[in-house]
Amino acid sequence: MGMSSHCTWGQGLWSYYVGQRPSGKPWWTKLRPFLAGGKSLLLIKSFKDMPMPASTGVVFANGERWKALRRFSLATMRDFGMGKRSVEERIQEEAQCLVEELQKSQGALQDPTLIFHSITANIICSIVFGRRFAYRDPDFLKLLDMFYQSFALISSFSSQVFELYSGFLKYFPGTHRQIYRNMQEVKDFIGHSVEKHRETLDPNAPRDFIDTYLLRMDKEKSDPNSEFHHQNLINTVLSLFFAGTETTSTTLRYGFLLMLKYPHITEKVHKEIDQVIGSHRPPALDDRAKMPYTEAVIHEIQRFGDLIPMGVPHVVIKDTKFRGYIIPKDTEVYPILNSALFDSRYFDTPDTFNPNHFLDANGALKKNEAFIPFSLGKRICLGEGIARAELFLFFTTILQNFSVASPVAPEDIDLTPQECGVGKLPPVYQIRFLSR
Ligand code: HEM
Repeated sequence: MGMSSHCTWGQGLWSYYVGQRPSGKPWWTKLRPFLAGGKSLLLIKSFKDMPMPASTGVVFANGERWKALRRFSLATMRDFGMGKRSVEERIQEEAQCLVEELQKSQGALQDPTLIFHSITANIICSIVFGRRFAYRDPDFLKLLDMFYQSFALISSFSSQVFELYSGFLKYFPGTHRQIYRNMQEVKDFIGHSVEKHRETLDPNAPRDFIDTYLLRMDKEKSDPNSEFHHQNLINTVLSLFFAGTETTSTTLRYGFLLMLKYPHITEKVHKEIDQVIGSHRPPALDDRAKMPYTEAVIHEIQRFGDLIPMGVPHVVIKDTKFRGYIIPKDTEVYPILNSALFDSRYFDTPDTFNPNHFLDANGALKKNEAFIPFSLGKRICLGEGIARAELFLFFTTILQNFSVASPVAPEDIDLTPQECGVGKLPPVYQIRFLSR
């Protein structure tokens, strides 16, 4: 079994080899070219009856459509990374708003879920809509609530049952209907924003992702085969929200729970921040190269946090030989990412949170090829760069300004996930952010 001991749902249900652990190369080095074939990302069945043709938007599209949308999304996010204000600056600005917000709490106990959702969602809002939202804006809060609920519902046991019997269960009430309703509301929100962008569009000065897309749509409007139509816009924006907010915020949430559990590790991060950044300027991405310990801690948070244990389902794009078997074309393949993240051949103590997994004998950052939380190949996470920038800047800005405390003694802090399905969610917890 390749499952983490923390992910009890998987025990006994999944096996990706039978008998002795096979010797030789691990699965993910061999299957890489096929998983990554660029063709098909299989749908999670809960999404199949969503209010969108399942194959639109960058996450769900395949073939030429996927290529066009992926290329556009990457290039546009890069432009907004290099253009007037870089993604780094946007994250730094958000991190300062976060510090102000946390200062207001004056060290009171709080559940960090909502504030972490808000900051990661605001980064996507800034890229896509060209603006951030105030943390108490009612529209923003509603949007966040719908996303968080959906992610939790998709990860829930009832959704896993739905996965197994969706053909029959789709006719009955259940979580899939709630997910459907939530998604429809989010789409309405995006549609409304697209209309407003259309009214104020200046072809010479695109402000954000939506403007850039609308201009491309106009340019290709005489091409009946263009992929740049309204529906792909809505669903690509939806994809970015869906893929880019819960993921990063849940990782941060796991991260701070781990900081509460292991105060000696937090202490070392504090020290490195004080030495390299000090307290008079905000952390910047260039600091990463000089902060191997903090980088190792963030890598270990992602490894141990194991956000998407089963990966995202794919299909093989041609008959594929694997360990003496033929996997026929179009077979569903689950790249069980946590079988790599918890592989004892690559990590000395896989079941223990241990930043040394990513440090060499001299204390320098050590790469590990089994570290694949963003998956691998052509369909590797499109937001990896943004996610890594967010994790570093949010994590260090918080710890530059605050120490953290829990009402529960470290040895009693329970790391058992609250949900472990498509996503692995940390348990709900309370934390104090105390000004340093
Ligand atoms: C810690 C944070 C994140 C993690 C662990 C993560 C992980 C993943 C994984 C495992 C996949 C599936 C790859 C596959 O099909 O094999 C994926 C896809 C994707 N992610 Fe992320 N992600 C994160 C943050 C983000 C962010 C911030 C964005 C957007 C800015 C984003 C956008 C996407 C998109 C659009 C896809 C679909 C790519 C495609 O199908 O071509 N992700 N991510």
